[in-house]
Amino acid sequence: MDTRHLVDSPLAAAPAAAADPLGIAVPATLGTRRDFCVAACQALSLGAIAATLQACGGGSDNPNEPSGGFGNVPALPSIPATVANGTATVNVAGTALATNGGTAIVTSSLGTMLVVRNDAATVSAFTATCTHQQCTVTGFTEGVFQCPCHGSRYNTGGMVVRGPATQNLRRFNATITNDVISITA
Ligand code: FES
Repeated sequence: MDTRHLVDSPLAAAPAAAADPLGIAVPATLGTRRDFCVAACQALSLGAIAATLQACGGGSDNPNEPSGGFGNVPALPSIPATVANGTATVNVAGTALATNGGTAIVTSSLGTMLVVRNDAATVSAFTATCTHQQCTVTGFTEGVFQCPCHGSRYNTGGMVVRGPATQNLRRFNATITNDVISITA
């Protein structure tokens, strides 16, 4: 009996393994239903991980979640103020605001504020709430305030000097007399 047709037949060749685009070795022949399910589950798992990593790599939209290393700048000193009749007062003797050019966060029930000692006789105060997605601005570097969430920067006049924020910080009324700063909303 002539058997050459069986030897030369493609059906007689051993199945070779191949790799799919995700790098998973896929048997040329998925012999059983179980083989198919295992391969499919592996592909789905890697796909889910890849999608998750891609989503994480683009930065966070959560306003309270710092991302991108923008929090790695010196933090402003924090000074508590007392509030009476809608005015927050803080004695700056011995604090970062005692010297000209000093900057600090002043906290009170009126809110968290960025305060700048402009000179001996004047101060400026702004909300510390970033106008981008409402993170609290806590850093100060290279002469500007920096938001820890996405890196927006504001100068000591409260104006945006780097996005993604596009709006300036809201200014409060602030005065200084005998080392006591008074701030009203
Ligand atoms: S909340 Fe996005 S930069 Fe401040």
